[in-house]
Amino acid sequence: MLLLNLGLILLVRSCVAHNIPLHETVNTLAKQLMMQQLMFEERIRSEGDSGIKQCRINNGGTKPYHMPSYSSKKGAASCHDHSNHKRTLGMGEFEAVLNGVEFRTRHNDYLLRMPSRTSSEYHATEDIPFPEVPPSVLAKKTVKGQIEEMQKYFKAFHTDYTYERDYRKYFKPVLCYLEGAWTTDPDDIITEPFKSDRNWLDANSWEDLEQKIQFNAYTGRKSNLENYAFLPRKIIELVNGTIPVTAQWNYRILCHPLKEFLNPNRLRLIDDVATRMMFYNNVDQHLESRRARFQLNTKDTPWINYKLYNDKMAQHRELLDDLMEEIPGKDNYGAYHEDNVYGRKTHKLKIDYVKNVGYYHRWYQSDKKGPMGLLLRHRGFADKNIFMAKTRQPNVAPIEVEDCKGKRSKRVCRTYRQRWTYAIPLEIVYMSPLLKWNPYDIPYKGDASSPEGQTVEKGGKRNGGFTKASAYNGTHNQLYYHTPAKFFEGRVVDVDKADTYRASTGVLDMHGIVRSMTSSGIRVLLPNIPNVGIVRQRYPIMPLHSEGSPIWKELHALKDIVMDMTKYGYMMKKLPNGKKPDLHDYLYLKDFVNTRINLGYDLANDTPHFHHFYLGEDERATLRSGQPVSMITSVANNHNHLVTVRPWGRNGGGYKMFRCDGEEICWDGHSTINKLYYH
Ligand SMILES: *[C@@H]1O[C@H](CO)[C@@H](O)[C@H](O)[C@H]1NC(C)=O
Ligand SMILES: *[C@@H]1O[C@H](CO)[C@@H](O)[C@H](O)[C@H]1NC(C)=O
Repeated sequence: MLLLNLGLILLVRSCVAHNIPLHETVNTLAKQLMMQQLMFEERIRSEGDSGIKQCRINNGGTKPYHMPSYSSKKGAASCHDHSNHKRTLGMGEFEAVLNGVEFRTRHNDYLLRMPSRTSSEYHATEDIPFPEVPPSVLAKKTVKGQIEEMQKYFKAFHTDYTYERDYRKYFKPVLCYLEGAWTTDPDDIITEPFKSDRNWLDANSWEDLEQKIQFNAYTGRKSNLENYAFLPRKIIELVNGTIPVTAQWNYRILCHPLKEFLNPNRLRLIDDVATRMMFYNNVDQHLESRRARFQLNTKDTPWINYKLYNDKMAQHRELLDDLMEEIPGKDNYGAYHEDNVYGRKTHKLKIDYVKNVGYYHRWYQSDKKGPMGLLLRHRGFADKNIFMAKTRQPNVAPIEVEDCKGKRSKRVCRTYRQRWTYAIPLEIVYMSPLLKWNPYDIPYKGDASSPEGQTVEKGGKRNGGFTKASAYNGTHNQLYYHTPAKFFEGRVVDVDKADTYRASTGVLDMHGIVRSMTSSGIRVLLPNIPNVGIVRQRYPIMPLHSEGSPIWKELHALKDIVMDMTKYGYMMKKLPNGKKPDLHDYLYLKDFVNTRINLGYDLANDTPHFHHFYLGEDERATLRSGQPVSMITSVANNHNHLVTVRPWGRNGGGYKMFRCDGEEICWDGHSTINKLYYH
């Protein structure tokens, strides 16, 4: 850096000495600055994927893994509870990377809010509607009866048993996500990107924030309320070659109610060994801690049916793609965009469907083949986790490119100007009927700061005690105590000092009677419910920056071999008993049987070549049920095909190629397929 600055100074000197006009000098310098920022981002992009990097540390230890990383002592990405708030999800500060931009958040504590469904205005949001209380609960005459009936719904949710009580209508999953963008703010006014009941950026302007961050970095201090964020700024454009336009990085956390119910059995614990070793937790203990992270199955099937095929390479799109593609970029739910830069439109998997790139996606299909013969493309160069969406918001910094086609007189140039934003998933949260249930008819007085809301605490005279004079007089949005304390009983797991709720507190009901209540907002893990157990409400699924690093990949390969020797022991050079592993000792290997399908090359009219694809267990199950499946073949002769296969033959054991790239036979002549079992 020093060397470079020295270089710039020398450059200025030599320009001045040689009478080069000042604006050219400024242009050269500014361009160099822009290239440096690009180089810096590219370096981060190549070092890892988009994801969470680090939480604040506030402890010591004798081992590196005693120190927090992507998970703090509190929880994954510092998640915690503010269940006394009506719609606040506790989440502390963390450092993250989105498409090569590294930044640090403030203390997040975000709200259950989603992009507006009616307005396309910049950052217009609305409250996510809470699920209803089951009518069979409300039908019970006594509070005791209601508690017992409600507990049965939680049991159904916990055990995934829908036969007696179909819980799915009353436990609604929302997908919360971290979104980042380069924004333009003509005046140096700080824009609070997303609402929180508890936190806000504690600065008057971007420059003020930068100064505070710089001061804290230099002196090692922290803001007591954790309200400073490190949000970089860069020169994004040079108007007329000399006037720099800066863009300010900003982020927000929002949620989206999933269109369809997502069964929690699609989520599986990730074995973060370092995080487990922090408290020497075994897998079961870790599962009941807030530090647990989860992974979504690649398909919409339970992990359990999938057991034998749990870990295999996904062809391309995963279940997460379907879910994230429900989330719009900054144009909100009305977003519609096509991406036709370089004269190519992007398509979804189905050939004739133009993709709406105004929603968060990472896979798209281009209508022209690239040099690798792949039609299906992933956004970014090598960032597994990045989701992108296009926007028209003027507040998002635009970028331009000129694309020229044809030669000499036929040369046509077109300028494309686009604005994009980035996102990664953070967590899946199951809203429960507790959010609306109010069996004691406690008066809810709305916002804590409203005149009516202020009567709840009566200027601090009421503190939730159990006498008429000290009990809260009703509730407000930050003292949301509508659940009878009796609903839970016994064990409370993994409490943290950042939590702000009380296990039981006195609240006056509408008749002025003191009731023993507990908070009704979202918790990571609910306290023990009699006959049910500990129920999880928040499933952190945030990806990690380090996942993209080759060291992480090597380490995880090794970790899997060491942690499950019965499964991967055959990978070892020598077993702990000194012998070489004998493949026949590993009978599970037969679980890896895949059906390999070769495309015949009989009629392939140019160079004879093969393609193949594999039918995994679930594809074969689909075929057995009589349904077709569509698969992308391997690349050969610089191209691949999208092949639809149907069950064929008397006992359904055979398959037939039904469509190839939408036609009866492939454009280059493959017309048959043959099947072999492959070990
Ligand atoms: C850039 O140059 C053009 C043409 O000389 C001029 O009309 C325009 O005002 C300039 N833009 C700015 C921001 O100075
Ligand atoms: C509780 O607050 C209501 C106003 O919301 C007021 O009318 C009532 O008198 C209060 N009750 C007590 C016991 O102070």
